[in-house]
Amino acid sequence: VFYTTLGATDLKVSQIGFGTWQWGDKWWGWGKDYAEHDVVGILRRGLELGVNFVDTAEIYGGGISEQMVGKAVKDIRDQIVIATKVSPTHATYNGVLKACERSLKRLGIKTIDLYQYHWPNPVIPISQTMRAMEKLVEQGKIRYIGISNFSLKQLIKAEEALKREVIVSNQVKYNMLERGCERELLPYARKRKVTIIAYSPLAQGVLTGKYTSKNRPRDPLRKLNILFDPQNLAKLEPLQQTLNRIAEEKGKSTGQIALNWLIKDPSVMAIPGVKSLRQAEENAGAGDFRLDERELRLIEEVYSQIKLSRLGSMLRIPLRLLSP
Ligand SMILES: NC(=O)c1ccc[n+]([C@@H]2O[C@H](COP(=O)([O-])OP(=O)(O)OC[C@H]3O[C@@H](n4cnc5c(N)ncnc54)[C@H](OP(=O)(O)O)[C@@H]3O)[C@@H](O)[C@H]2O)c1
Repeated sequence: VFYTTLGATDLKVSQIGFGTWQWGDKWWGWGKDYAEHDVVGILRRGLELGVNFVDTAEIYGGGISEQMVGKAVKDIRDQIVIATKVSPTHATYNGVLKACERSLKRLGIKTIDLYQYHWPNPVIPISQTMRAMEKLVEQGKIRYIGISNFSLKQLIKAEEALKREVIVSNQVKYNMLERGCERELLPYARKRKVTIIAYSPLAQGVLTGKYTSKNRPRDPLRKLNILFDPQNLAKLEPLQQTLNRIAEEKGKSTGQIALNWLIKDPSVMAIPGVKSLRQAEENAGAGDFRLDERELRLIEEVYSQIKLSRLGSMLRIPLRLLSP
């Protein structure tokens, strides 16, 4: 596993971490397809394989995700960097302080390593939220401040609102098919030491190659994701084949190639969501090799030929819910 430094800190983090939105969330199939016994050993096994970073949020599974992370880090807490998030609905000064207390309790820990503001709330001044974040650092309840789903403009505003601390990370959607952050955020992140934590790094499973236009996931959640549109999945076949081929040559899986592609940049970490030990082990194995120039070029050549339909997902929600 490759390691990088989290933002402008001295914290060494594995470039592959684990995402835990899936832990406790019924929409992903929690309680039906997988449950506590499937996930609770993941962090210990991950650690054996070099993974030392986990991401959760107060909103995931209505708090269950944080509780599961708490159980999973028992005895190994000091070796794992724990990141969680405060929801935009709790972004007032007091709201942040209280939300942090609740998260600490659910996690069963004394200090959150990375506390991230989940989405910007346009109604609450960023200075208020950041003041609370700095208070929490002062109190020793959190170590570092991060943000999530912030544009470059919003990121700079958050930085300006801080008096003593800095923003160490911005968690945004980033994968081979969704590269929006490459335009502004990534160049800035490299220059200013703000780690980009890539969420949905497998494009919610599309980039594992297991889904096709004839074999789509059944959960309602991914029905809302335009990438799972049968036409898009069909268009992606040439890319899947290329990734499959590279994977085979390297003795890796398709998903491992997709994750490795992201972490070629030391400013980027990837946090694939995991539902089982098997997925966790596979994803941990995505960080011990390098794609060479030829392979990267090949991926670009094939990708540049694909024109995905990107019709705004809000527009598609009613359509996707109606479709089988
Ligand atoms: N900050 C934010 O706003 C935000 C938003 C979204 C996510 N996140 C964070 O980012 C994490 C990851 O994003 P994500 O869950 O949206 O998408 P993702 O990581 O791209 O995809 C996760 C899904 O891919 C499948 N998968 C994972 N590893 C696999 C493997 N080795 N082999 C085959 N399938 C595998 C699993 O679903 P199946 O097995 O059902 O296919 C899993 O639920 C989340 O858990 C969460 O921590 C943050």
